Amino acid sequence: MCGICGVVGRRHATPIVFEGLRRLEYRGYDSAGIATLVDGRVERRRAAGKLDNLAALLKKEPLPGTTGIGHTRWATHGAPTACNAHPHGTERVAIVHNGIIENFETLRSDLEAAGQVFETETDSETIALLVDYHLQQGLEPKEAALHALRRLEGAYAVAIIFAGHEGLMIGACHSAPLAVGFGEDEMFLGSDSLALAPLTRRIAYMEDGDCVVITPKGAEFMNFDGVPVERTIQLTALAAGSIGKDGYRHYMEKELHEHPLVIGQTLQRMVDPASRRVLLPELPFDLAKVPRAVITACGSAFFAGMIGRYWLEEIARLPVDIDVASEMRYRNPPLTEGSLGLLISQSGETADTLAALRSLREKAIHIVSVLNVEHSTMARESDVVLGTVAGPEISVASTKAFTAQLTVLACLTIATARARGKLDTLAEEHLVSALLDLPSRAAEVFNQTDAIRAMAQLVVEARDVLYLGRGSMFPVAMEGALKLKEISYIHAEAYAAGEMKHGPISLIDRTVPIVATVPSNALFEKTLSNLQEAKARGGRLLVFTDTKGAERVSAIAEQMVVLPHVHDFVAPILQTIPVQMLAYEVAVLKGTDVDQPRNLAKSVTVE
Ligand code: F6R
Repeated sequence: MCGICGVVGRRHATPIVFEGLRRLEYRGYDSAGIATLVDGRVERRRAAGKLDNLAALLKKEPLPGTTGIGHTRWATHGAPTACNAHPHGTERVAIVHNGIIENFETLRSDLEAAGQVFETETDSETIALLVDYHLQQGLEPKEAALHALRRLEGAYAVAIIFAGHEGLMIGACHSAPLAVGFGEDEMFLGSDSLALAPLTRRIAYMEDGDCVVITPKGAEFMNFDGVPVERTIQLTALAAGSIGKDGYRHYMEKELHEHPLVIGQTLQRMVDPASRRVLLPELPFDLAKVPRAVITACGSAFFAGMIGRYWLEEIARLPVDIDVASEMRYRNPPLTEGSLGLLISQSGETADTLAALRSLREKAIHIVSVLNVEHSTMARESDVVLGTVAGPEISVASTKAFTAQLTVLACLTIATARARGKLDTLAEEHLVSALLDLPSRAAEVFNQTDAIRAMAQLVVEARDVLYLGRGSMFPVAMEGALKLKEISYIHAEAYAAGEMKHGPISLIDRTVPIVATVPSNALFEKTLSNLQEAKARGGRLLVFTDTKGAERVSAIAEQMVVLPHVHDFVAPILQTIPVQMLAYEVAVLKGTDVDQPRNLAKSVTVE
């Protein structure tokens, strides 16, 4: 949530910071701003709305200077106006902040009592006025910043510049990510390595409670008491150009087309092609002895976890408890020591999932995280990271990260089943073969684009849509409904198909399309009966099925999308792709902002 970026060096700072903000826009896009030092003075430009508005303002009122910070905002405290946009500051200092300052009300009244005047409704301005207060007391920038940092409570990543101090920037973080980039006679700060990818590959990731003093010559890391700490420089694998749209209309369309690739890449990391066996990294515990698993995540990642539960229970015979992270963290479930805590997150920064991770850790649970962002906070706090190899996901709506998560969970299921003696070599080979077959089958899904577009025509006029599925297809239906809501703003609900008759069936009429995922598996007949019940009440059926189920489905469906038939085990991975594509095509027809839907942000780092 919110992206921050900064540069000190020899080049014009504004275009560098602006480009960094473009790459961070996925973290929030309701206002943006940049501050630089111009002849030693702090100058700011801020605009409500998308970055293009800031670009227009900068064209009218350019911002020179070689020391600069920028911010793209997802509003928490205070409306997304230009006044509430970052950077915040005074004539002495400017700051950008990602996170929430929980004690800002106390700090604000203390500062007001000391004569400081606030201009905005934000919690972030408190940081600026706190640093400013200490500067006014005669402290040097570093001391002023450290004094201020020691008083902040909550989650924050900040970058600060100081009037009269060209080439100086101070960064700090606590429970929010911040990366330091090392260039030639220039240095950078960014919320993630994606922001810094065109600038440098040499990155140091800051840890909770770190402060960094940056000049064009390098960085000095310390804790908030000023005691030096060592942080190593790593080479990021991200390429500068890796976030282009490559000719697709939207990032989401591009990322949908990357499903076959990311499934393949993730399998390459987890499966030995010669022996056809799943290879997990070395675990600091014995999978065979784990008494149960607790899965937690948010949004789409949670639906991936639900499918994981079906697999782990059915194939590995491991009992699983699952809940969304915002509930799990406060539920305080009784857990047996030695259980497996399985966290799933694309960003590795989602505040609720991170808090759930920490609460599970307190219960002596082994923490295994399925993550896409390698150097994220969750990665640092996990015992084991199982990486999804999905690459940067820019579209706010998650697509390829979801199938990559499922691929990892499928491999984990196989390894767990083997460890628990529930899978012999032949059966394992059978499941692994089904997985290895997936990238090609996934590529075939795109042959159905026209049928999906035809289905989208039937959905686009609806006010409400019902998604149905049974077994592991139920979370696929949930994923479909979430995607539709998220990017087309059409209300959608997902139900376990067998549950429909217990209430939602009363909603059904010709105006409420029913989207169902029904491959020919053990629940095929049962699900078809549920669909017949809906049809008998005037329901219009739009059905995703496979080549084996097509004949039966065609007898009742108004529109049908036929996928290749695959092993039941991997069917939810394949079925997810057209369900996400449907949401995309509906959003395109509606003309919404597909990549940056209203009110959302990619990385939700607030509770
Ligand atoms: C939906 C979506 C969100 C995320 C959720 C968790 O398309 O993208 O529901 O899945 O915010 O985010 P991560 O996976 O980063 O923890």
